[in-house]
Amino acid sequence: MEFSISSGSPEKQRSACVVVGVFEPRKLSVAGEIIDHVSGRYLSELIRRGDMEGRLGSTLLVPRVPGILADRVLLVGLGKERDFRENEYQKAVASAVRTLNETGAFDASIFLTDLPVKRRELRWRIRIAAMAARAALYRFDLMKSKHDDVRRPLRKLTFSVSRRGELADGELALKQGLAIAEGTNLAKTLGNLPANVCTPGYLAQQAAELATAHQLKLEVLERVDMEKLGMGAFLSVARGALEPPKFIVLEYRRGNQSDKPVVLIGKGITFDTGGISLKPAADMDEMKFDMSGAASVLGTVKAVAELELPINLVVLIPTTENMPGSMATRPGDVVTTLSGQTVEILNTDAEGRLILCDALTYAERFDPDCVVDVATLTGACVIALGDVACGLMANDEGLAKELISAGSMAHDRAWQLPLWDDYHEQLKSNFADMANVGGRGAGTITAACFLSKFAGKHRWAHLDIAGVAWRGGKEKGSTGRPVPLLTHFLLDRAGVL
Ligand code: BES
Ligand code: MN
Ligand code: ZN
Repeated sequence: MEFSISSGSPEKQRSACVVVGVFEPRKLSVAGEIIDHVSGRYLSELIRRGDMEGRLGSTLLVPRVPGILADRVLLVGLGKERDFRENEYQKAVASAVRTLNETGAFDASIFLTDLPVKRRELRWRIRIAAMAARAALYRFDLMKSKHDDVRRPLRKLTFSVSRRGELADGELALKQGLAIAEGTNLAKTLGNLPANVCTPGYLAQQAAELATAHQLKLEVLERVDMEKLGMGAFLSVARGALEPPKFIVLEYRRGNQSDKPVVLIGKGITFDTGGISLKPAADMDEMKFDMSGAASVLGTVKAVAELELPINLVVLIPTTENMPGSMATRPGDVVTTLSGQTVEILNTDAEGRLILCDALTYAERFDPDCVVDVATLTGACVIALGDVACGLMANDEGLAKELISAGSMAHDRAWQLPLWDDYHEQLKSNFADMANVGGRGAGTITAACFLSKFAGKHRWAHLDIAGVAWRGGKEKGSTGRPVPLLTHFLLDRAGVL
């Protein structure tokens, strides 16, 4: 798909389709009004007859509108004008693109990006539109023997801006939006791939492909390397698995040499059975998504590298399966982490924190400016925040604010939970420095408390993406979140947001 920006007027678009909005009830957008005027009230006549009410996300394809150069007009419902905000904007763009994809149109000029969205400037509108359009076109059929090979003619989408002076800004935002969408799509595909394909080795291979494509430095530590280092916590999770674990280290350096890097850590459990503390059978297939943190940090590097952001970024991915077996870690086992602290593993299903804690310690060798880990860490987070916001916990308020604001910009939101000392009590162990679980209450927070003991002295934040990384049910599939949040965070740091 090709994307572009244009400042032309709607009636003069020589394309297969012009897309304009209709507010509820029955009110054309500015671009819609222009077409209505030159067509001798052709559109308002349709609307008057009740063919398009303006309900959010509804669409009506109108062929042969008189007086314009385009072959058709697609009317898109926007909902009530005073309720038209970020969510509505995104939905309208997505449903426009989905409908266009079902028509015979080869190209389309979309007059939605010039709509006013409260508090959001042009760059935001274009970036989000590009992301929403790409997301609407995403399909995952890699594992089907027959591909859905209906030939879709749609090849080119053009987003409108109101003035010529906005073209340059629009182009930049379009480039950013498309890069974020590419990264998000990579994360989605890695998430959607089954665990018998997307193994730790497969993730390492994906990292290698990124490294080759964008001249990144890559190092993959094998089991023996990790044994030598003393990553006892990570290795305790990998013990039950025949599939070799990997510790992926990917470095992107386009900032000043003296700039301390941002380190992103992604949880890469390619399948979480729970280990000896076996999970129940229902929905266990969804535990193939337990590497979504890893997928999202890979997607983020992809976006950052494509945009050649002038920053230093290091990505760490501890990746393994969590399997039961005669070699697997038993509840009650005590292990020594890379930091030297010991952990009593009371529940082998709390494995995410065990692989992340060694990665957090490993991160110190990069003398980071800050560290952000991303993990499908706790079922409790799904209960607390559902699939709307991810959980955010940090040892630094400034970093927390940056991430929250990036999430709000990207419409990929995070909500902060407290990391007060009081919660640390729950991790006390009679047999080791700490236990790996903290009992029933505040499961998301105690998991983060555990991690905080390995964050060292640098600024650190933790994103619990258990509720947002994938959707279950009929629409089951990876969302690619939080690639948009993370990329916005880095765009902001690079000063180009
Ligand atoms: N990967 C899961 C968390 C998870 C569960 C994410 C369900 C999304 C949906 C994680 O490894 C896990 O099993 N966590 C346990 C921790 C508990 C044993 C303290 C949980 O949340 O039940
Ligand atoms: Mn688990
Ligand atoms: Zn897990």
